Amino acid sequence: MSTKKVMRVGFLTSGGDCQALNAAMRGVVKGLSNNCENLELYGFLNGYKGLIYGDFKLLTPQDFSGILTKGGTILGTSRVPFKEIRIPDENGVDKVEAMKQNYHKLNLDCIVILGGNGTQKTANLLREEGLNVIHLPKTIDNDIAGTEVTFGFQSAINIATEAIDCIHTTAASHNRVFIVEVMGHKVGWLTLNAGMASGADIILIPEIPYDTDKVIEAIKRRTKEGKGFTILAVAEGAISKKDAALSKKEYKKKQEEKKYPSVSYELADEITKKTGIEVRVTVPGHTQRGGSPCPYDRVLCTRLGAEAAKAIIEGDFGNMIGNVHRELVRVPLEKVAGQLKSVDPESQIIKDAKFVGISFGD
Ligand code: F6P
Repeated sequence: MSTKKVMRVGFLTSGGDCQALNAAMRGVVKGLSNNCENLELYGFLNGYKGLIYGDFKLLTPQDFSGILTKGGTILGTSRVPFKEIRIPDENGVDKVEAMKQNYHKLNLDCIVILGGNGTQKTANLLREEGLNVIHLPKTIDNDIAGTEVTFGFQSAINIATEAIDCIHTTAASHNRVFIVEVMGHKVGWLTLNAGMASGADIILIPEIPYDTDKVIEAIKRRTKEGKGFTILAVAEGAISKKDAALSKKEYKKKQEEKKYPSVSYELADEITKKTGIEVRVTVPGHTQRGGSPCPYDRVLCTRLGAEAAKAIIEGDFGNMIGNVHRELVRVPLEKVAGQLKSVDPESQIIKDAKFVGISFGD
């Protein structure tokens, strides 16, 4: 593959960051620079804001060198909610029109957009508006439809697993009950995987509402079996059966009252009140998105980058580059934008976890 045409490619990273954003951009640029003679690279700063306000840097392939292992994003990121994208900013700027104008002003051939669900919706909107876009699926949450795995997910599993491993030893020494709160407001992929990888006894995820009494039963069962400690891996978005039965309005009101910093503290308090058992809570928080990408993500992103570069050279736009059965696939954005990939409570992995005695509190 070789081409003499000047290829003008823009990049932006949007939404919450994660590991391997840099690795993915590096993959794209290496794939392009290895196969195209004339490249012009533009990095839009701080997500869609850079594209809206024309805040960009002209970059060279060297700028993408040496960043395979670097966490965060060299372009910076921000959240520009999809639901606000059609609303003019405080100065009356039409964000969508501004993005189109900046794209055309630079005469771009394409823009590579790295981000999660919300980012993908805006990428799809830009496609509908006639821009050539390619989306690379990032998020530690792994909740993007059309791909089995997103980058950042595996790195975050490693960090959350290590956090629970560390809690394991101290919990065992002190015969304590510990909750480790894992990221994931809407889906439980990260909690499920980190929980299983670290031998958590109870795993609570948003897709399977829990009953506090069932959680207590599981703790007591362990005590009866002679185990002095219990580890709970609880997703940020875990929800009790009681709360799941509330109307949206009632639940929102409860959240706003902010009696507890998060669901883990509420659950810990409930367990203590009902049993007298002291429960400690640990929240690894944003450490799960930080640091260097793990080897799996580095390989994944190099491959995603290669496929994105091939698509750009072929002029095949409007897709997300996904990964299905370890093969890279180009998934039309209109087929997946706006869809959430959640854990199926009836899936084999949940059945296997239950079979080995892990409680989901249901
Ligand atoms: O979407 C990724 C994610 O890390 C979620 O797991 C988490 O709930 C959320 O972002 C945290 O967002 P913020 O960085 O805005 O606090």
